Amino acid sequence: MFFLSRKKKDSDQKTISGQMPRHIAIIMDGNGRWAKERRLPRAMGHKAGVETIREIVKECNRLGIKYLTLYAFSTENWKRPEDEVSSLMQLLVEFLKKELDELHKNNVVVNHIGDISKLPEPCQVELRNAYIRTKNNTGVTLNLALNYGGRNEIVFAVRKILTDYSRGNIKVGDITEEAFSRYLYTAEIPDPDIIIRPSGEQRISNFMLWQCAYSEFWYSNINWPDFTVQDLHKAIEDYQNRDRRFGAVK
Ligand code: FPP
Repeated sequence: MFFLSRKKKDSDQKTISGQMPRHIAIIMDGNGRWAKERRLPRAMGHKAGVETIREIVKECNRLGIKYLTLYAFSTENWKRPEDEVSSLMQLLVEFLKKELDELHKNNVVVNHIGDISKLPEPCQVELRNAYIRTKNNTGVTLNLALNYGGRNEIVFAVRKILTDYSRGNIKVGDITEEAFSRYLYTAEIPDPDIIIRPSGEQRISNFMLWQCAYSEFWYSNINWPDFTVQDLHKAIEDYQNRDRRFGAVK
């Protein structure tokens, strides 16, 4: 489709020196506005957003980023019209079916975070299959945040801790910040170094509430379907110029 084709630029292959963020997290936003500006149905905005996902995953992998988390469906997104929810679920299945061979060939691990047990069965099947197939890869880990909410994640963690406590597997004094982190969906994943939010909104929207304690935030006015590899480079370079002190003095 005409609006989905992307022209490659020389700067797509740019080398970025300096310390790369280990974990980039993105709140993909602005699909609906992108579609509205073109008088298209909202679903077309999401479809165009999938094209951006392909490019950004590829680029993160090329740059040696270890983790890329994409906020694809929040615990609050169920409030959207039924046809929009089902087109998002369908896009997810199509994406995994269509892209998995290529992602696997490119050494990408396809992981998910969130309570996927509430997603339609075909989504669960494709997500589990994608993880099983790619889990031993060594390239970027793509975490798809689905039916994910930061508050829900914390509540789930507390429930799991209480279950372990009631079975005598954990003592009150064992519950440190590090121990708590191991009960989150992101147990094996470092906190995001940078959280990117396109589309002009500047809020966290229930995303990685625990993990964002010391993340750098990067906002841009570009809607997600128009977000390019050059925007990603800009975000990384801005991140590299931030002074991260983690509460200490330097
Ligand atoms: C926010 O834009 C975007 C979403 C809620 C969904 C993001 C999903 C995709 C990009 C595609 C499906 C995902 C995968 C992994 C295949 P919005 O709709 O809130 O935009 P608006 O604020 O302009 O209305």
